[in-house]
Amino acid sequence: MRTVNVNLGPRSYDIHIGTDVAGGFSTFVETCCPKSRRALVVADTNTAALANELVGRLPYAEVKIIPNGEGSKSAGQLTELWGWMADLATDRHTPLIAVGGGVIGDLAGFAAASFNRGIPLLMVPTTLLSMVDSSVGGKTGINLPQGKNLVGAFHQPRGVWIDTAVLNTLPDREYLSGLAEVLKYGVIMDPVFFAWMEQHTADILSRQADAVAHIVARSCRLKADVVENDEREENGLRMILNYGHTFAHAFESVGGYGHWLHGEAVSAGMMCAARLAEQRGLIGPDLTTRQEELLKKFNLPLTPEPEWSIDEMLRVMRRDKKNVGGKMRFILPTTLGKVEAFDDVPEAVVRDILTP
Ligand SMILES: NC(=O)c1ccc[n+]([C@@H]2O[C@H](COP(=O)([O-])OP(=O)(O)OC[C@H]3O[C@@H](n4cnc5c(N)ncnc54)[C@H](O)[C@@H]3O)[C@@H](O)[C@H]2O)c1
Ligand SMILES: [Zn+2]
Repeated sequence: MRTVNVNLGPRSYDIHIGTDVAGGFSTFVETCCPKSRRALVVADTNTAALANELVGRLPYAEVKIIPNGEGSKSAGQLTELWGWMADLATDRHTPLIAVGGGVIGDLAGFAAASFNRGIPLLMVPTTLLSMVDSSVGGKTGINLPQGKNLVGAFHQPRGVWIDTAVLNTLPDREYLSGLAEVLKYGVIMDPVFFAWMEQHTADILSRQADAVAHIVARSCRLKADVVENDEREENGLRMILNYGHTFAHAFESVGGYGHWLHGEAVSAGMMCAARLAEQRGLIGPDLTTRQEELLKKFNLPLTPEPEWSIDEMLRVMRRDKKNVGGKMRFILPTTLGKVEAFDDVPEAVVRDILTP
């Protein structure tokens, strides 16, 4: 088993990564939460079987299954979870174990952050995206009708348990979408990792166990390196993780959430960002080409849909919450493995990049 330590002082924790490792699960729970004999488990309809299998290994646990999909990251589901926890007389030592993708992680994570002013959280991410992204950083939350992730809290888990074997049931599209974020880590901070992906594309695509364990562990390590230096998104360092995301948020909003998965939007967003960096003279064409080749092999989109209104995309980008002083902010590569923030890109140039 591989371990990635997320070093956050008193909030430090380990991410355990292995394949077919369910046997060690009860020890993991006991080690993370030695004071509790009980556990609460939250899963969605697609991860219920897995949750039940893991629960069978614990001395005493209650399971709550909620409907799958982004719609569950709601105030209604949160209230339901709070009520369930209250009915079970949950005390502040009882861990909440989130078994599922980012939706379950964010929802159950926020329930754990808020119930009794905070109870221990354990995460068992089951999608590639949640393994490489939500398992590091402690962001939890729900959506409002007014917007995504508008209510939430930072609440670091006590531990993360990743069994890559669970990815075998993940639909292709979800898996490929997760690969966009994996590739992102290579472009923003690790040229060696990027080259490794180029050399092992076939193993990655066939979900070969060692290759998957490697991309998950490396991605978690890289994200941890960022989060350890900017735990609460206060000093700007965490911003580099937003590579491709200024564009991606516009694509998700204009295309309608649900048209593209998040990673698909990030893929086209990273292509726009690379083209923009090239246009600004920050990089040569080589980086853009290498990124494009890899994204193509992952079968991910490379450009926004031609029918989307450029004016509307620009409008969304102007009001992106990561902007300062009303200026659009872009994270752009200056070489493979390094990015910087730019807020001086003229709108006409952005318009040009978005034009099919
Ligand atoms: N907290 C963070 O740092 C963070 C980071 C990135 C994304 N997110 C959030 O995560 C959410 C997206 O996460 P996601 O992509 O994991 O989506 P998701 O949780 O909706 O999972 C995608 C689909 O796959 C199903 N599924 C999950 N595991 C499966 C498995 N092993 N086999 C078969 N099906 C499985 C789910 O039921 C769902 O239908 C968004 O709400 C996003 O805001 C949070
Ligand atoms: Zn993302």
